[in-house]
Parts: sequence; structure tokens; C-alpha cells
Amino acid sequence: MNYRFCGNSGLQLPLLSLGLWHNFGDVDDFSVASNMILRAFEQGITHFDLANNYGPPPGSAETNFGKIFKAQLVHHRDELIISSKAGHLMWEGPYGDGGSRKYLMASINQSLKRTGLDYFDIFYSHRYDAQTPLEETIQTLIDIVKQGKALYIGLSKYPADKAREAYEMMQAQQVRCLIYQDKYNLLHRKPEAELMPLNDTYGMGFIVFSPLAQGLLTNKYLHGIPENSRAAKSHGFLQRADITPEVIHKITRLNELALQRGQTLAEMSLAWLLNKQAVTSVIIGTSSVKQLQDNIAGTQFIDFTRDELIRIEDILK
Ligand SMILES: NC(=O)c1ccc[n+]([C@@H]2O[C@H](COP(=O)([O-])OP(=O)(O)OC[C@H]3O[C@@H](n4cnc5c(N)ncnc54)[C@H](OP(=O)(O)O)[C@@H]3O)[C@@H](O)[C@H]2O)c1
Repeated sequence: MNYRFCGNSGLQLPLLSLGLWHNFGDVDDFSVASNMILRAFEQGITHFDLANNYGPPPGSAETNFGKIFKAQLVHHRDELIISSKAGHLMWEGPYGDGGSRKYLMASINQSLKRTGLDYFDIFYSHRYDAQTPLEETIQTLIDIVKQGKALYIGLSKYPADKAREAYEMMQAQQVRCLIYQDKYNLLHRKPEAELMPLNDTYGMGFIVFSPLAQGLLTNKYLHGIPENSRAAKSHGFLQRADITPEVIHKITRLNELALQRGQTLAEMSLAWLLNKQAVTSVIIGTSSVKQLQDNIAGTQFIDFTRDELIRIEDILK
């Protein structure tokens, strides 16, 4: 595994990180979850990405990670970067959602308890909350760092103008915003316009989520929707309606190019992201050790010829 410095910081992250949004909840097979985490770590994936609401049920991914950590990884704590987040609906009532001080402080305390950790390496505001003054959210993140509950701050899915304001607020207090997390993949290019240049200007790391468009950028949906796939699961966030003939046409052509490069579509899709220096790390989600291995292979060959890049743009236009 290779590592990249996270923006202007001294922290290095692995090219691939493992996310626990799906496949690590109580509805999933614990031994598969455990194997994926351990195999990932053995191969240099030092970063695991959580959030308060990952499951289902919400919170169970943190609890399950905590069990695996306690049983197998506790002596490796200083070799690990573990993140969590708060921002989306987690519990009933007015204090279980958004960006208020009340919610963020309560949530990180709950997340630490569920995982059994003393601190998170990175704690994110999971989304911008227009109903909470930005100062309140950012001051709370700063206080979380000052209290030693997290080492670094991250933001996820903030509009560019709000991210810029937040970076300025943190800089004014000499507290580092380490990293920005957003969706970015061959089928979703939005961050290229504003966020990636902004992060570069402010020296932020950029970590990608849903790099395979939740599985669309693999060979699994080329011939229908397999049983047990995310799109077939009632609790999956990928909807059948997302798998349109237009998407199938694009991924079929991308798959042909991947095969010509000697890669699977998943490998090529990850390689395309890692080919960009603005990308610090890519958070993958896997439902088996086999997928994990395939995705790790994608880090081995990340160069593209000019002709290949032009063909990709032509397929996607
Ligand atoms: N900040 C945020 O708001 C936010 C939002 C979303 C995600 N995230 C983070 O990003 C992580 C990754 O997101 P994601 O799960 O959407 O990532 P993804 O890598 O785009 O999708 C993962 C899914 O793709 C399929 N897959 C992965 N590798 C494969 C392979 N080699 N061959 C065939 N299929 C493969 C699997 O689907 P099947 O399950 O169908 O096998 C897997 O569950 C999350 O776990 C979370 O940590 C953050």
C-alpha cells in the first residue's frame, strides 16, 4: 500500500481506506465484516471510516467495529486512523440531527462509547446544516479537538462557500481542518468544479466516498441486478431506479476499456481516481474479502495514456 500526505498536514493516509457504511451492521455477517477489516489492515489499509448512523441499525457498525478492534487490533491503535461523523438523523427529538453543539457533543460521546475508543483520529461534521449557525458547528469541532476527543477535524458534503468560511474560522483559531470528504467517481464529477480547487488552495486533504458509485462502476450490474447486491437489498442506498439503460451503456463501454488495460472495471475506476494527485485517499466499501482484494489490485496500475483518458471522457459525455 502506498500513502499520501493529507493536504499540507504531516498525516499520511493509505491510497485506499475502508468504509463501514454498509456491510458492517447487525444485519450483516460479523465474521465477514471481521475478516474484511483484518485483511485490509494486514495489507496496509490503516484508515477505517465510520459514522454514528452506520448500520443498520444505526450505531451497530461502530459497535461491531469496537468488538473487532478490542479482540484483534487494540495493540495496533497507534497504527490506525479511525474516523467518525455526526450530522444526519441519529435519534428522535430536536437534538439528534444537524450541526448543533448539543448534538455533536452528545454524538461523539456515544460513538466513543460504542467503539470503546479513547479518541477518534478524525471527527467530521457529516453535512452542512443551514439551520445551525456555522460558527456553532465549527466552534464545537474545535472544542472536540481541544478536549482530546479527536485529533483532527473533517467536513463532509459542505457547499464550497460554506467550506471556505469554515476553513477560515478554523485557521483564525489555529486549529487544523484536515480533510474534506465528498462523493466523487467516474459517474459523479461535481467536486471538480469548485471543491477540489478550493481544497487545494487551503491545503486540505480530499478523501473520496462512493468511488465505485455503490457498485455501479464494477462488473456486477452489467447483466441485471444480482441477488444480495446493494441494489437488491431493502436497506441498501443504491436504488434499482439508479440502474438506467444509459448507465448500463456507459459502464459496458468502460468495462471494455478496463479489460483492454488488463483490469476489472472496479480496478480501473479506482485507478482513475488515484491518478489524480488532488485525491488523498479513496474510501471503498466492500461486501467480501474478494472485493477487497480486487480493489487493492486497483492501486497497482494507476497510470493512463492520453488516449485512454480521452476515451473515458468520450464514453461519459
Ligand atoms: N460522508 C458521507 O456522507 C458518506 C456517504 C457515503 C459513503 N461514505 C463513506 O464511503 C464509504 C464507501 O462508500 P460506498 O460503500 O458507497 O463505496 P463504493 O466502493 O462506491 O461501493 C461499495 C459497494 O460496491 C460493490 N463493490 C465494491 N468493490 C467491488 C468489486 N471489486 N467488485 C464488485 N462489486 C464491488 C459492493 O456492493 P455489494 O454490497 O452489492 O456487493 C460494495 O458494497 C462508506 O463505507 C463510508 O465510509 C461517506
